[in-house]
Amino acid sequence: MKAVVTGAAGFIGSHLTQRLMSDGHDVVGVDNLSDFYDPLLKERNLSELVGNGFTLVRADLTRSDLSSVLDGADVVYHLAGQPGVRASWGESFDDYVNANVIATQRLLEEALRVRDIRIVYASSSSVYGDAESYPTNESALPRPRSPYGVTKLAAEHLCRLYAANFGLETVSLRFFTVYGPRQRPDMAFGRFLRATLEDTEIVVYGSGEQVRDFTYVGDIVDALAAVGSGALTPGTVYNVSGGGSHSINEVLELIADVTDRTPRVRYADVARGDVSRTSADFTSISTQFGWMPRIGLREGLTRHWEWVLSQAGQPRSGVDLPSEELPPHFRTATSTSE
Ligand code: NAD
Ligand code: UGA
Repeated sequence: MKAVVTGAAGFIGSHLTQRLMSDGHDVVGVDNLSDFYDPLLKERNLSELVGNGFTLVRADLTRSDLSSVLDGADVVYHLAGQPGVRASWGESFDDYVNANVIATQRLLEEALRVRDIRIVYASSSSVYGDAESYPTNESALPRPRSPYGVTKLAAEHLCRLYAANFGLETVSLRFFTVYGPRQRPDMAFGRFLRATLEDTEIVVYGSGEQVRDFTYVGDIVDALAAVGSGALTPGTVYNVSGGGSHSINEVLELIADVTDRTPRVRYADVARGDVSRTSADFTSISTQFGWMPRIGLREGLTRHWEWVLSQAGQPRSGVDLPSEELPPHFRTATSTSE
């Protein structure tokens, strides 16, 4: 199978790419190495993808010429985008609209040209906002609470309507707060673990009683791999979550336990756009694809902590990347083990 992974240099995309490669698939990664967080971290992620069968296309989905990116591919995992709930207000909304909505529409148009390709879109629990009921299933009315959530929902609707109007084989997975090695540095677990390692202050937004259905990245990758093939009704949406309900205060207690250190915590104002609770009903994906989360919070947090320890003092990676953006077309670069 040939797969295209957009956002391959990012947190989830790099794990997915590794998994697809180890399953023997050819993978074309598409990423512009955006500077939302330190691109060196993305270079480091890419350096883990060395080996046969991986090609990186450094291109911006909002404006690069995408013709031929999808040629010959059976499935495109569309993970590229501008993530982050709290940063999506004010002037940065433009970036969210472009990277999440415009980029998705351009990719869907390209998929229409190619045909016979499945599009698996990385949607988000943020589409629910403060949900009507818990655990929340996919038929709940989506009412995002952040501008980020609005853009993720808009892109999800685009996937659905390209399925309805053109029969394009799209599917959206709503990921619930993902953690584990390579997690984006703006997210809670990575911040908390690094602060615990460095004995600096953890800032908790609000009372710490907000609850999340945290999901280990390996479980997300399993779900993506499962949904990449197999029978599917075009336009379907599935929740993907770890299946637990944990408050931030509980996470901090677990961090103390796992790291055998005492986190220093300061409580600050609630972050705009933050919901008080997420909790998924993932019966649909379990029934259709036999997927279940396998990694509980203690085990996942332990793996994440071990990774944070392994990264302490890590120098810049030496992976060879294309240096320019690529209009009118794109330049390809295959990462090598040199
Ligand atoms: P990430 O920022 O680590 O990865 C996204 C990647 O997309 C980055 O490498 C970035 O350089 C690339 N990118 C951004 N804009 C691009 C563009 N215009 N063209 C090409 N590449 C572009 O984020 P992540 O946490 O791995 O999230 C991956 C996807 O999953 C995102 O779409 C996000 O909205 C979604 N998601 C993430 C979570 C989570 O908890 N991490 C939860 C729900 C949904
Ligand atoms: C995460 C991702 O960042 C989004 O990209 C994704 O779409 C979303 O999950 C999702 O599930 O759809 P979030 O739940 O806010 O969003 O994840 P974290 O950034 O890990 O934050 C979890 C909680 O910790 C939030 O309540 C947040 O306010 C809090 N937090 C975070 C802190 O208290 N302090 C911090 O330094 C960071």
